[in-house]
Amino acid sequence: MTADPTLPDYREQTPEVAARFERLLERPVALEVSGLTKRFESSRNVVTALDNVSFSVHKRELLSVIGPSGCGKSTLVRILAGLETPTSGELRVYGEPVSGPGPDRGMVFQGYTLFPWRTVKENVIFGPRMAGTSAFSAESQAREWIELVGLSKFENAYPHQLSGGMKQRVAIARALANQPRVLFMDEPFGALDAQTRCQMQSYLLEIWKNVDITIVFITHDLDEAVFLSDRILVLDANPGRVREVVQVPVPRPRKPEQLFLPSFMGVRQHIDRLIHPPGQEQKEAPVLRHAISDPDVI
Ligand SMILES: Nc1ncnc2c1ncn2[C@@H]1O[C@H](COP(=O)(O)OP(=O)(O)OP(=O)(O)O)[C@@H](O)[C@H]1O
Ligand SMILES: [Mg+2]
Repeated sequence: MTADPTLPDYREQTPEVAARFERLLERPVALEVSGLTKRFESSRNVVTALDNVSFSVHKRELLSVIGPSGCGKSTLVRILAGLETPTSGELRVYGEPVSGPGPDRGMVFQGYTLFPWRTVKENVIFGPRMAGTSAFSAESQAREWIELVGLSKFENAYPHQLSGGMKQRVAIARALANQPRVLFMDEPFGALDAQTRCQMQSYLLEIWKNVDITIVFITHDLDEAVFLSDRILVLDANPGRVREVVQVPVPRPRKPEQLFLPSFMGVRQHIDRLIHPPGQEQKEAPVLRHAISDPDVI
């Protein structure tokens, strides 16, 4: 894609946006990642999925991580959630070193991970009950979370009775019910159709507005990253390294119409060029031996 020189520089910020970033970066650090390296070793080869990755996420920030396929996004988020151990490096949540999973961190995956044999309410109650919350209190809290994601009418439904978007809303409620301080989301809307995906992005911003939570959101979708985020961490692939942390100059509250704002398109273009550097555009697919040539199919 050729660059559009008429778009504003992604570093241009209105005074309001600049002031917001100043306040945001003054907030306590919720998550600090220092020198994270992950190597997968087998008898045949060594893959360095992440190489010396360092960054911080501030309280109540929404930070997206974007990068080409295989750059280590899922590996990163699995390490942050404590599901994978790093080869080296350190992770702190509000200053406390952490290793292994903990209730301070929640996770929402792309695949639907609800218990199919439990209702919506039972799925949401499960975590707090395991953590020792009384049945009465877990149930009343679950109702609140279910209401927050707009599914009160479905609290007794089973996952198979819900649409993909609804299942992911339950997954968000279930993760939030454990009251984590940081929520990790690995391409949570990746399996949804385009329209539902856009709705879910707006839902997520609405939920984030109402809950004291810091979010690290993994995606490979540029529009999604810009629409949701305060800042975007761009990773390089092979090995996965931090390329740049970009401040999104689009004001909040975010609305779908902003996708066409010059500031939106300017920062989108910048990130697109970081991920797909000029000269590395995808080559045309080779013509197959049995392909039937048709001048109207181009
Ligand atoms: N368990 C594993 N064993 C060996 N190699 C692995 C393992 N998990 C991931 N990798 C390798 O680490 C690299 C990063 O993988 P990862 O799944 O984190 O990428 P990703 O950015 O999430 O990709 P995608 O956008 O396709 O989801 C890849 O080269 C992958 O092959
Ligand atoms: Mg992945």
